[in-house]
Amino acid sequence: MSITLHDIARKSGFSVTTVSRVFNKQTARYRISRETASYILQVAGELNYRPNQIARGLRLKKTHTLGLIVPDISNPFFAYLIRIIQRFSHTFGYSLVVCDTDENVDLENEHIEVLRSKGIDGLIIMPVGQSSSHLEYLVLENMPLVLVDRCFEGLQTSSVTVDNRRGAFEAVDYIAGCGHRRIAIVQGLPHTYANNERVQGYREALSKNGISPDERLMVGNDFRSEAGYTAARQLLKIESRPTAIFATSDLIALGAIQAIREEGLTIPEDISLVAFDDIEFAMSLACPITAVAQPKEQIGETAVQLLIEQIKNRGKQRPKHVMLAPKLIVRDSVRRIDRPNGRTERQAG
Ligand code: RIB
Repeated sequence: MSITLHDIARKSGFSVTTVSRVFNKQTARYRISRETASYILQVAGELNYRPNQIARGLRLKKTHTLGLIVPDISNPFFAYLIRIIQRFSHTFGYSLVVCDTDENVDLENEHIEVLRSKGIDGLIIMPVGQSSSHLEYLVLENMPLVLVDRCFEGLQTSSVTVDNRRGAFEAVDYIAGCGHRRIAIVQGLPHTYANNERVQGYREALSKNGISPDERLMVGNDFRSEAGYTAARQLLKIESRPTAIFATSDLIALGAIQAIREEGLTIPEDISLVAFDDIEFAMSLACPITAVAQPKEQIGETAVQLLIEQIKNRGKQRPKHVMLAPKLIVRDSVRRIDRPNGRTERQAG
């Protein structure tokens, strides 16, 4: 297998970005010492590194192929986005190669290397979102790149996200407006942009409604249903358990629904629930779930448009950060505590 920048980074103890900057003759710009540069080149020589000219050559030649990397292909939210991006890429004459990272940064790295070696014309990444150092060299090499859903403040590349903080705020403010005071949050993957912003929106809504946050009601560590189930069971064991749960993804909500049902409880009579994504199943459950809807079509189409622009400008396009507005869709899963019959907003008509 050919030696990559990652191999040189691992052996030299420097980051991929530093190694890339040495090979891209940017040592002065980034104040990389002569000693560091020569050590990195020495390690490259020892490894018999040959710059991947084939990939570079391929990249300079259009292959009319785009790469798309997603964190969880089994999640209907990402599956829906894949279909939108596939359909829209096709209208521009591009085919799509899709890779799943299973929320694993090492796998994300591997897929990026493979796609680069195939000479793709551009890359859309919905990153795991916990670290960006392995993406910086793509920017350095002017690889046309758009980040979707989870992005990084400091990374100079285009991105498409939704206003996660506003969506979470509106969800929790709505729950509090229905009279709830014990409102729990089941978080997704820690240290990701999407999760951090949703937790912030949750906190701001509690503060606006004069509710002090209770750390015991802030649980969870992954956007998938198994974690939602475990977190909800944890919440239901608390002595003064929450009367409402804000789930930071639909799959978390699915897991929570199973845990609530196993406890012999019902939604919304015993526990109110709001989710985030609003994939198709949300409205067809026994109790249609109130959810923060992400504008999936707009996300996918905007990502493709930004990438095509970059391809036309050979990756030298100034980064554009597009933040789209989510929308709270009120259904039947939140009970109004301040109404004697406890009916939901929609049931009350
Ligand atoms: O459902 C998976 C979650 O992870 C979604 O809310 C999406 O925004 C991603 O961050």
